[in-house]
Amino acid sequence: MRVRSSVFACFILIFEVVGVALFLRGFFPVPLKSSLSSKSRLSDSPAEPLAGSSPNSTRLPQPLFRRVVLMLVDALREDFVFGPTGGSNMPYTRYLVEKGSSHSFVAKARPPTVTMPRIKALTTGSIPGFIDVVMNLNSPALLEDNLIWQAKTAGKRIIFYGDDTWVRLFPKHFMEHDGTTSFFVSDYTEVDNNVTRHLDSTLKRDDWDILILHYLGLDHIGHISGPHSSLVQPKLLEMDDILKKIHSSLVSKEAEGSLPYLLVLCGDHGMSETGSHGGSSEPEVNTPLVLVSPAFKRKAGMETPRVVEQVDLAPTLALGLGLPISQNSVGRVIPGILEETSLRDQLRFLHLNGHQLSCLLRDSTPDYKKGSREIHPVLPPD
Ligand SMILES: *[C@@H]1O[C@H](CO)[C@@H](O)[C@H](O)[C@H]1NC(C)=O
Ligand SMILES: *[C@@H]1O[C@H](CO)[C@@H](O)[C@H](O)[C@H]1NC(C)=O
Repeated sequence: MRVRSSVFACFILIFEVVGVALFLRGFFPVPLKSSLSSKSRLSDSPAEPLAGSSPNSTRLPQPLFRRVVLMLVDALREDFVFGPTGGSNMPYTRYLVEKGSSHSFVAKARPPTVTMPRIKALTTGSIPGFIDVVMNLNSPALLEDNLIWQAKTAGKRIIFYGDDTWVRLFPKHFMEHDGTTSFFVSDYTEVDNNVTRHLDSTLKRDDWDILILHYLGLDHIGHISGPHSSLVQPKLLEMDDILKKIHSSLVSKEAEGSLPYLLVLCGDHGMSETGSHGGSSEPEVNTPLVLVSPAFKRKAGMETPRVVEQVDLAPTLALGLGLPISQNSVGRVIPGILEETSLRDQLRFLHLNGHQLSCLLRDSTPDYKKGSREIHPVLPPD
């Protein structure tokens, strides 16, 4: 009897160890990463697959946008903008969504829905795992290939105001920056005023190409009193006014002949019904993504926003600015933004994205070559 029960105990112990190992393997998956430690370069772009070798075959399409303003509102939930109360929360944004030249999407953030991994996802196009939550409080500089590094290397001048996590991730990348601290969660006024105070003078200037704003106030309100608090609507109206100010300034600056601007409104993650975030519930992962640019067709009414992945923004912005797509990006370019370009350019953009994704697959899968040898191209019959 004694022997039997100790065998049983051993069995239970082994079972537990296997269970824990299985859990850890699933919870901390091996990230999809290129084994090469270099960064993507424009000169590595593949040639256009034309019949014959034209001298123009490495040609890249002209960038779509000259200037990009990225307005990130922390914890902006999808229904704050697209839901039934969207019209009263953010009237100007809703006007742009319904009648402006814009594209609207619900961008799915992957858990963990915490700010630092989400900023990494937005800039690298890769999906950081739970291990990043541990490092969320002490984020060291981001060494992986990313959009900000690519933009800086291409000579783009970047200005940043907002959550100082960005300044820690990108310590030398910004021409000008002012980080606000998210340490005092009870403060939801000064964190945002510290960002907005720079706006009037920055918008008048011509010496920058990319402006990034990260507003923390809404997230703090969520943590204090939840998504249905009476503080939420005034905050969203404040954000709407800021978006209107930026949009009006971009419209008035739009010079004849030069490339158009792009204004992006997005959230890093949403907010649960209790005002927290970090998990994988619908209100936490669904964030709005609104792209506004004269390069798009005008909308004729409210459409149900399509669902995209949050990581799709990184390759979309890279191609839109004429930059190489970051090496570890798993995002797909959002096809809507290409609608006004020629068919050949659209194909070329998709080709660049497809090539980058296949390079990532090749570099991160050891038996990629073995598998691909078995695939034979199907030739059209003569
Ligand atoms: C190659 O580029 C030149 C200049 O950009 C253009 O005039 C010419 O038509 C292009 N040729 C082809 C085959 O696309
Ligand atoms: C806002 O700016 C002031 C002055 O630069 C600074 O003292 C204060 O700490 C900032 N507040 C936050 C929340 O970053």
